[in-house]
Order: sequence, then structure tokens, then C-alpha cells
Amino acid sequence: MIGRLNHVAIAVPDLAKAAALYAGPLGAEVSAPVALPAHGVTVVFVALPNTKIELLAPLGEASPIGRFLEQNPSGGIHHVCYEVDDILAARDRLKAEGARVLGDGAPRIGAHDRPVLFLHPKDFCGTLVELEQA
Ligand code: CO
Repeated sequence: MIGRLNHVAIAVPDLAKAAALYAGPLGAEVSAPVALPAHGVTVVFVALPNTKIELLAPLGEASPIGRFLEQNPSGGIHHVCYEVDDILAARDRLKAEGARVLGDGAPRIGAHDRPVLFLHPKDFCGTLVELEQA
């Protein structure tokens, strides 16, 4: 059911530092920072030939990555995002299999203006999983 790896998201305490690390030593193509107030994060997109890395820093008071960074002060992998063809069909299949979909189960519009859902990390090897309709 899942398709391509759309991105790996890495939460970081210092976005400028992280972007400089990817642009410098790692020699990657990085975007300017993009503020996404609706998601409580500022993102730098790192374009790789086969996928993307998203560097996430908290934006505002109630950022969804605030607690993660408290527990991982130097940053860390926050989630992986897999593409699916039909997000509602994917959700229904996962729920039927006993997986927990976060929130009210309704897809939200994600950072790429496409519908996304998140799956409970305890159901997927300790990894927060985002599904994005391709
Ligand atoms: Co994501």
C-alpha cells in the first residue's frame, strides 16, 4: 500500500545551524526557511535526488515538536512520510488492522498542500509515521 518515501523530518533546535550543516559539509541543496504557522513549525527543505529531508524548528508557543526537542535537546528524527494513492482508503485499512490514527482521523492539509495523517508511533516500531496522498 505505501509508496515512495516522501521525506524524513528531523527536528532541530537551531534551524540556521542545521541548514548550514546540510548545505556545507553534506553539500546538499537547501531551501530558505519557510514558516508554517498552522503547523507550528518553520521548515527548511533539503532536496535529495530520491527524497527530501525536512529540518523542523518550533514556531510559536504550542509547537507539536516542542516536547520532542525537550526530550532530544540536540534534535533527532521526528517522523518519516510515506506516500499513498488514496489517504481515506489507507486510513480505513489501517484502522481495520488495529492501528491508531492520531487526532480525529480526518486528514489535514500538510506542508505540501496535500492531505496527510499521522499514525501512532507505538504501533509502528517507535516511529511516528506520516501518510501523504501523492
Ligand atoms: Co512531514
